[in-house]
Amino acid sequence: MTGSAREVVLARPVLSFPTVADFTVVDRRRTPPEGDGWLKVRPLYLSLDPYIGARLRGRHMGEPAPAPGEALPGFCVAEVEDSRDPAFAAGDRVVVEAGWTDLAWVQSGAARRVSTDLAPSLHLGVLGMPGLTAWAGMTQLAKTGPDDVLTVNAAAGTVGGVAGQIARNLGGRAVGIAGGPEKCALVVDQYGFDACSDYRRDDWEARLADAVGEGSTIHFENVGTGQLAVGLRLLKLYGRVVLCGLADHYHADAAAGPAMTAIGPIIGKRAAVFGLVVYDFYPRWAEWTALAEPWIRAGRLTIAEDIGDGLDAAPRQIERLMRGENIGKTLVKIA
Ligand SMILES: NC(=O)c1ccc[n+]([C@@H]2O[C@H](COP(=O)([O-])OP(=O)(O)OC[C@H]3O[C@@H](n4cnc5c(N)ncnc54)[C@H](OP(=O)(O)O)[C@@H]3O)[C@@H](O)[C@H]2O)c1
Repeated sequence: MTGSAREVVLARPVLSFPTVADFTVVDRRRTPPEGDGWLKVRPLYLSLDPYIGARLRGRHMGEPAPAPGEALPGFCVAEVEDSRDPAFAAGDRVVVEAGWTDLAWVQSGAARRVSTDLAPSLHLGVLGMPGLTAWAGMTQLAKTGPDDVLTVNAAAGTVGGVAGQIARNLGGRAVGIAGGPEKCALVVDQYGFDACSDYRRDDWEARLADAVGEGSTIHFENVGTGQLAVGLRLLKLYGRVVLCGLADHYHADAAAGPAMTAIGPIIGKRAAVFGLVVYDFYPRWAEWTALAEPWIRAGRLTIAEDIGDGLDAAPRQIERLMRGENIGKTLVKIA
């Protein structure tokens, strides 16, 4: 029952931007824990998400940074190989936080069973935490409908890309903002947005305004200051704003002071603003799955995947994500 595993851990504390040199790969013996309520799992894919950069520095939701050698934060989709809980059986597929490893024993109470008839990586992306975030922001907070015009940034990523496709699938228009021509092509050609403005171009604000037309009714923010200010300027009176993420500020050492200068238009537009914490919506995951799975099967909901091959690719993949170089959902294929 003992098994050998490989695991990526920190080689040293992460003091600022996590880079490949902060990580190392170690071999582990996995001995079965005592008692019931345990699952032996083989991870198929590891999910790398923007919050992990902050988590590694002890700057996320009050949780301490992992010490060098300790298990790293991050969810995987895994196959159950052995079950010490009658509610699970070998062959089940689960989403669980197992560390950056290819074999682990996890508590069954922390595992969420998922369907086996869709590609496993979908349970970390569109049907995973980032997809749930987009659903919560668009349908539960902004209450999007057929008359809406959405602007959303980091539109090539999972949260932004799913937010736009929800807007479109429910009858509205979606205009994305993303960094570079490759990401913008993905947003329009694969995700089906009405338009996407590349903020690396000098004329990106004018192009965004052209695409929005008379004004937006929802702005969904994933990045921060400069893009937030432009998104708010294009908002119509009584627009709704979902403040979901500030990816451009996560590595800053000082608080994001200039973000405050973006707040003026919220007042001028009489806008309703929603702060979004996806954890509040974890009990309602089944509602998102019920809406999203038929769209996935019908080809009306898709997200590109940025996959690193093998556990050794994990440090490079997290560094790419932290630099914004990822195109779509950042994953590591383990098995
Ligand atoms: N509120 C919540 O509960 C909640 C839950 C999940 C995620 N989030 C937030 O939602 C946002 C999107 O998440 P995601 O998983 O879909 O990630 P993602 O879009 O795959 O990756 C983040 C993207 O942010 C953009 N970005 C802009 N400035 C950046 C910078 N300085 N450094 C790194 N990236 C930068 C990049 O896209 P461009 O090149 O196109 O700018 C990058 O690809 C993040 O801010 C995340 O923290 C919030």
